This record gives sequence, structure tokens and C-alpha cells, in this order.
Amino acid sequence: MAILVTGGAGFIGSNFVLEWLRLGLGPLVNLDKLTYAGNLRNLSSIDDDADYTFVHADICDRDTVLQLLNEHRISAIVNLAAETHVDRSIHDPGEFLRTNVQGTFALLEAARAYYDSLVDEARTNFRFINVSTDEVYGSLDADAPAFTEDSSYRPNSPYSASKAAADHLCRAYFSTYGLPVLTTNCSNNYGPFQFPEKLIPLVIRNGVRGESLPIYGDGCNVRDWLYVGDHCDAIRRVLESGQVGGTYNVGGDAERTNIEVVEAMCDILDESVAGATPGQHRGLISFVADRPGHDRRYAIDASKIRDELGWQPTESFETGLQKTVQWYLDNEEWTQSIETGEYRDWLEANYELRACRS
Ligand code: NAD
Ligand code: TYD
Repeated sequence: MAILVTGGAGFIGSNFVLEWLRLGLGPLVNLDKLTYAGNLRNLSSIDDDADYTFVHADICDRDTVLQLLNEHRISAIVNLAAETHVDRSIHDPGEFLRTNVQGTFALLEAARAYYDSLVDEARTNFRFINVSTDEVYGSLDADAPAFTEDSSYRPNSPYSASKAAADHLCRAYFSTYGLPVLTTNCSNNYGPFQFPEKLIPLVIRNGVRGESLPIYGDGCNVRDWLYVGDHCDAIRRVLESGQVGGTYNVGGDAERTNIEVVEAMCDILDESVAGATPGQHRGLISFVADRPGHDRRYAIDASKIRDELGWQPTESFETGLQKTVQWYLDNEEWTQSIETGEYRDWLEANYELRACRS
């Protein structure tokens, strides 16, 4: 039996797939539509791995998903396929609703039909992992306690609203049909293979080129950061031993303001980029127009997954950030190779609207 990973050519997906195969955890089928965010180059090292199969398809295509479930006798689905960039969801929300809501619905329907056909151990062991985000909980005041699994859903962007809708569908399929769904709500990830539209890889890309480092608003928005490898480990633990129907918050206990994150990266770049001088990269910071509906603060209480499943992050923010900056510096051709016309158009559309404020 194999597991089906959707969105395995994206950021978290690539890390998850590579680690799964490295650990020898069994056959894995990767279904990905290869949007701008999907990159098979990330997975070239496993092209010849007998345990690995790639399928170019859309999660909205229920028939293809059902066929794959039957053909590969799938024991679990890990859904990582999604539209994920908040700013893009503000410019153009339609694709977020299609993939994140209708796509999750199609996957759930295929899973339900397949699950109904299973018997004995295959039925007992089947799992559907819905990988979600802390952004569904909305924004926290500075002194409010961190999000727990019982926090109310208050999404503020089209992205987080589409993820919240998907979470609700997953919950309903467990409650109504008994489909063994588990949901993870994770904080901001960073690490290798993240598309350079997101804050951390964008700052490395621009910093290396001597271009400005755009900070939205006053730079005091807070995110909780988790190294991607630790998120993948959390997903595997939930898959192995999570309680069916349960939800698990996953976070790095590493709250930082955006300005703290960018300044820490500037200092690493000063030390790592050949010929750079102290303070050089901080000089590139520029404050630009804020994101509409910009959530002020996210913070995760990860005590449930720690106490129930024994999970905890292995990387601190400092060690993870150092590793990440080094990975991008060592793999500059990776960033260059994805700079398609579409990506350049996006940078223009997003940042031209945000007139530089300093
Ligand atoms: P990503 O944007 O890097 O990758 C998404 C992948 O999904 C790409 O490979 C893309 O080609 C694929 N895809 C998109 N639409 C598809 C469709 N209709 N059918 C099949 N494949 C499709 O995303 P990511 O950052 O790796 O995030 C993966 C998941 O984890 C998402 O559900 C996201 O909400 C969640 N998550 C991400 C973070 C984070 O910080 N990146 C944090 C918490 C949760
Ligand atoms: P991002 O990486 O887009 O993740 P998310 O919006 O899902 O948290 O952004 C992280 C934070 O960084 C968020 O508060 C927005 C901010 N940000 C900037 O200040 N400048 C940028 O150019 C980008 C892309 C993000």
C-alpha cells in the first residue's frame, strides 16, 4: 500500500516527499497540478526511486483521484495541494476557492467512495490528513493567549477563509460519514524550496541582489516561525498516531515581528555573502504600503501535539534561519531557475502598487 501526497512538488510537499523516501517509509504517489508554485526539479533526486510515482493531475478531478486510490491501494492521503500566498489571494481569490475549497471537497468525495469500499485492516488504518494553517483563527492582540485547538475560526483573508472552509468540510466528513480525517493547523514555515514570493526567501533573493527589502506597514506584525522539516515530522506523527477526527496545532514557539526576522536575516547575509560589510543589508530595508486586512499577530499553543504525540521542534528559529539562508546561498540557481515571466509579472504587480515609504 502507498500513501498519496497531493501538492508534493510545492514547498512543504517537496520536503515531505524527500524525507518520507529518505526514511524508507514505503511507496508514495505524488499528485500535483504543477502550478507556478510546483517544481519537479525539487524532486529530481528521487526520479529513479522505485517507491516514488508522480502523477500530473488536479485535486479537483475526483475521478482521477478515485482511480489512483484504487490503483495504488492508498492507505493515507496527505493533502498539501493548495493556493497559499495571501497577497495573491487578495489580487485574485477565485483560484483559492477552486483549489482550496472545491479541491478539498473533491478529495473528500473520492476518499469517501474509496473508504466505503475498504474492509478489515485497510479500512481501520485509512487516514486523511488535512494540512491547514493557523491563519484560520484570525488575528491576536499583543497580549492575548496563543491559539489553541479550541480557538474560534475568524479568517481575514481570502486565503485563510478558503482554508477555513476546507477545515469545516473535513470536520463535517468525519462527523457525518465517519471518514477518518485529522487536521493540522500550523504556523509560518520556512526552509529549502520555498517559493520566493514569501517573506523569508524573498528577503534572501533581494538581499543577494542588492535590491530593496520590502516590509509591509510598520513591520511589527508577529508570526510564529517553524522550520519546514519540523512541520513534516509533525504531519508524520499525526498520520501515525493522531486521534481520528482530531485537530492539532503545530508551531515553533518562535514569535517574531517581521522587522526582527528581516534584521536577523540581514545580519546573516552580512556574514555569509562574500565581500559584504556589517550593516550593508539592513540598509536595503524599505517600508512599503501595508497588506489590506493584514493580521497583526499569530501565536500557536502546540502543547496538545507535544503532550499527546511527543512532538517538538528540533530547530530553533536561529539555527533554522541560518540553515535556510545558507541553503539559498548554496542553491542560487534554484531561485534563478524559477524566475519565469509569470513570477516577474507578479513581483511587478504586487510591489509597484506598494509605493516605497522610506
Ligand atoms: P506551495 O504553494 O509551495 O505549494 C502548493 C503545491 O500545490 C504546488 O506544488 C502546486 O503545484 C500544488 N497545487 C496547487 N493547486 C493544485 C491543484 N488544484 N491540484 C493539485 N496540485 C495543486 O504551498 P506550501 O507552502 O507547500 O503549503 C502546503 C500546504 O500547507 C497548504 O495547504 C498550506 O495552506 C499549508 N500550510 C503552509 C504553511 C506555510 O508557511 N507555507 C503553513 C501552514 C500550513
Ligand atoms: P508571508 O511570507 O507572505 O506569509 P503569511 O502572510 O502567510 O504570514 O508573509 C509573512 C509576513 O511578512 C506577513 O506579516 C507579511 C509580511 N511581508 C512583508 O512585510 N513583506 C513582503 O514582501 C512579504 C511577502 C511579506
